[in-house]
Amino acid sequence: MVQTVAWVTSLFFMFLVLVVFAVVAWKSTERKEYAPIKKKWYKARTFYASVLIVLMTSITIYTLRELPYSQPVYGADQEPVVVDVEGMQFGWEMSQTEFKVGEPVEFHVTSKDVNHGFGIYDEEMNMLAQTQAMPDYTNKVYMTFDEPGTYEILCLEYCGLAHDLMTAEITVTE
Ligand code: CUA
Repeated sequence: MVQTVAWVTSLFFMFLVLVVFAVVAWKSTERKEYAPIKKKWYKARTFYASVLIVLMTSITIYTLRELPYSQPVYGADQEPVVVDVEGMQFGWEMSQTEFKVGEPVEFHVTSKDVNHGFGIYDEEMNMLAQTQAMPDYTNKVYMTFDEPGTYEILCLEYCGLAHDLMTAEITVTE
C-alpha cells in the first residue's frame, strides 16, 4: 500500500517536472520585454516566500506542541506502573517483571556501568519499544501490553564480551 502510494506520487511529480520542462522549451523562442517579467515574478516570489513562512511556522508550532511525542496522557484513575530498570554487564535488574494486559507501564531505564540498549520484543521477536540505558541518565519507555505472553528484553548495544547474554523476560497475564 505504502509502496503504491510512493509510486503514484513519484510518477505524478516526474510528470510535473516533465510539464515544466516542456513549457520552458515551448516558451523559449518567444521574445518579450524583460523589465515587466522581472517585476511580475519578483512579486510572485515575495508572495510565495510569505506563504511559505506562515505555513511552515504554523506547521512547526502545531507539530512541536506535543513533545515529547511518546509521552502518554493518563486518565485520573489510570496511574502507570513504574518499573526501575538497570542494565549492567551482563544482565538486567528490574523492579517488576509481571504485568497485566492493558495496564500502562513506564520503564525507567538506566545503567550501572556502560551504555546498553533496552529493547522489548514480543514472542515473534518483533521489537515493540526500545531506549538507551545510560549511566547517570534515566530514559523512559511507555508501554501498554495488548496481549498476554512472554516478552523478551534484549540488549541492543554492544557492551562487552557477553553482550548477547544480556537478556531478561517479562510475563504479561490477562
Ligand atoms: Cu548490554 Cu549489550
